[in-house]
Amino acid sequence: MDRTQVVIPAADMARQRDFTNKLSELFRQRGGAPKAWVETYGCQQNVADSQRLMGMLRDMGCPFTGDPMEAGLIVINTCAIRENAENRVYGLLGRLVHAKEKNPNLIVCLCGCMAQQEVVAQKVRASYRHVDLVFGPQALWRFPELLYNVCTQHRRMFSIEEEHGSIAEGMPVVRESAVKAWVSIMYGCNNFCSYCIVPYVRGRERSREPGDILAEVRELVDQGYKDITLLGQNVNSYGKDLETPMDFADLLSEIDKIPGDYLIRFMTSHPKDAGDKLFQTMARCAHVARQLHLPVQSGNSRVLKAMNRGYTREQYLEKVRAARSAMPDLVLTSDIIIGFPGETEAEAMDTVSLVREVRYDALFTFIYSPRPGTPAARMPDPATREEKQVWFDRLLDAQNEISGQLHRSYVGQTVRVLVDGESGDARWPLSSRTNGGRLVHLRGDASLIGRYADVLITDSNTWALFGEVK
Ligand code: 5AD
Ligand code: SF4
Repeated sequence: MDRTQVVIPAADMARQRDFTNKLSELFRQRGGAPKAWVETYGCQQNVADSQRLMGMLRDMGCPFTGDPMEAGLIVINTCAIRENAENRVYGLLGRLVHAKEKNPNLIVCLCGCMAQQEVVAQKVRASYRHVDLVFGPQALWRFPELLYNVCTQHRRMFSIEEEHGSIAEGMPVVRESAVKAWVSIMYGCNNFCSYCIVPYVRGRERSREPGDILAEVRELVDQGYKDITLLGQNVNSYGKDLETPMDFADLLSEIDKIPGDYLIRFMTSHPKDAGDKLFQTMARCAHVARQLHLPVQSGNSRVLKAMNRGYTREQYLEKVRAARSAMPDLVLTSDIIIGFPGETEAEAMDTVSLVREVRYDALFTFIYSPRPGTPAARMPDPATREEKQVWFDRLLDAQNEISGQLHRSYVGQTVRVLVDGESGDARWPLSSRTNGGRLVHLRGDASLIGRYADVLITDSNTWALFGEVK
């Protein structure tokens, strides 16, 4: 891809800011900016995108509400990774018919990965006529212009052209926490795992310039952020498309030089590109958390090949050994899919055995969901949903046992945590994270939020640790 066509020119970004200003003026003339409700589904990349949408809405003068019934402007940022996520969005759209009947001026926007699919756009066009604006992740930076057109031309807009994707620098952002921040370092995915819709909706891999990333991290550290997560669909292929190539490990080393009391996390790492250089760099960099999310997806080499993952079970296990030998205290997590088309019971049990062998700290587990347009959706899939559920439950039982054991081994230890927010549980009102990213619920008052604390772990369960500030 030609870089000059990837990075949006500053003049085009300035034009969008003009549309933001025009909207703010238009809203003023119409008696005030509408209250905005932004609902986000899916991954951290979507959370980060929503923070940019909120930045643009804030600059248009929109106040935010947590109640869709009170909103004059609704933005639904969707996920397409599994059918279940899509069904939840259709359910929400169905419920909003009533809101639009009550308030005909209500503006409903649908964006994100689901919106990028032609089949979805067609369905919305025909059956969800109360949706005013539909745009995919590639058009995010043009939200002010699209919304302006909806507001002035009083017609529905669909912006879901197939694009390889772009990089838009300098978008405004509303960060929802003063402690934790997301920084996208790259967009898109070139891997085409056979089950996955992401490469079709988020375009080709493109990396932000290291200078832009470093400037953003430096600014966040200056503002007092302490827990910064670098985001990309596959951070290990960072930099391959830059004019002066730089790899992800080098980027980590550069970020690590920024002085301050903060931690850098990152996700997601594809095992095929994660190697010794990354592990040694993580081990050496004081600001880089001892945490690695290394999705294996399956523990069976035949299934991995059918998934187009680019590694075998043995190669994956070798990487885990290398990572742990560089960082004995590494917290390791993974994603797993059970019930890939054609997977047998024995193959699914290979995944369970891999989980027992690796002993992950935590897992994100999914039952395979066919995504129209992907190669896997065309493969024969003889196992029934009930069978897959049985295999899935066995996987969960194995992982729960392991997580429970690993968590119990923290009890009695003192660990340093960053207090990052309120937990919503009156008995343990604060939530915090260890360096490795394990969740610790704490007793204490809100003044601790944003601070590091040494905590004695007194209790644990499968999902979390509990502790007292020392
Ligand atoms: N069905 C089930 N899970 C999926 N994932 C991606 N695509 C699918 C699918 N079609 C899972 C993978 C990925 C995570 C983000 O979602 O495990 O790592
Ligand atoms: Fe999907 Fe594979 Fe790309 Fe991850 S690496 S986004 S699973 S295609």
